[in-house]
Amino acid sequence: MSIPNAQRVRTVLTGVKPTGKPHLGNYLGAMLPALELARSHRALLFIADYHALTDLEEARTVRAETYEVAAAWLAAGLDPENVTFYRQSDIPEVFELFWLLSCATPKGMMNRAHAYKAMVEANIQLKRDPDYGVGMGLFAYPVLMASDILLFDVDVVPVGRDQSQHVEMARDIAQRFNNEVGDVLKVPELVLAAEPEPVLGLDGRKMSKSYDNTIPLFASRDELWRLLRRYKTDSSAADAPKDPDANGLFRIYAAFAAPADVVATRAALAAGALTWGGLKERTLEALDAVLAPLRQRYQALLEDKPQIDRILADGARRARPFAEATMRRVRRAVGVGV
Ligand code: TRP
Repeated sequence: MSIPNAQRVRTVLTGVKPTGKPHLGNYLGAMLPALELARSHRALLFIADYHALTDLEEARTVRAETYEVAAAWLAAGLDPENVTFYRQSDIPEVFELFWLLSCATPKGMMNRAHAYKAMVEANIQLKRDPDYGVGMGLFAYPVLMASDILLFDVDVVPVGRDQSQHVEMARDIAQRFNNEVGDVLKVPELVLAAEPEPVLGLDGRKMSKSYDNTIPLFASRDELWRLLRRYKTDSSAADAPKDPDANGLFRIYAAFAAPADVVATRAALAAGALTWGGLKERTLEALDAVLAPLRQRYQALLEDKPQIDRILADGARRARPFAEATMRRVRRAVGVGV
């Protein structure tokens, strides 16, 4: 997409935690929309590896998962020429700003953060110390996120509902900081990612790792078929008219098939001319046609980790001058350094 007026170029930034292999729900609900936004913005996308480490158990897996997530985004179409794609941990300024933002953040604001509050409430239920198992990393998670955002003069931060409180907090923290030391941080807008209908998993609930009902984005064709066969559908007679939206299968099919095929398949289901099993076969073909090349790119990237390292290092090289400029401004405003 071309941008008609250079002045309209706005900055979009989002972070993704390195948590294993993406599934179709991640792809349709988060990755494709983010890649679409990146076409019309100056775009930064980073792997929030330090956010993953609020639980140090992750230290064993974070490196491998960082490669997997990076390979997934690149395979899905992220063009590192157009999107500044980097590891959070390659931008040390994130942590300089983190400290100063912590000083502008009331502890009471963090007490209200959903993830922390949920842990405290669970502890109270179990009659444990309210802060049992709560590290300072978990407590300060929203401040680190504010730092990711505020370093880069970001206009919009598209996130799902689960992260919107964090972005609100980043705005609040930026305003407090500016009130104290002068107008040095750009206050971003929150853009609630238009939540598409959730993609439903094998059991009919929202597709999610925690329900163990996912179809992995990079599953082999055989694996796709094995999973699709398990996809829950009703047992209506072969020639009974079927509501295409009675389960989540058609939605998945429609996201991958050609528009004309989608129309024909919807009509065939409604007319009782297609079984659920038949829809599963069509879905396999539609998925495999789109995903086979992605799968190949993904495998090739994972077999060439130095290439991923080069891409991420190049992203960090491009991102850092902005971060450094922000920190120069901020350090001057707070009176540290020369
Ligand atoms: N907390 C986000 C998540 O769990 C990831 C994230 C880290 C992020 N820093 C960010 C998202 C900054 C947007 C902006 O999904």
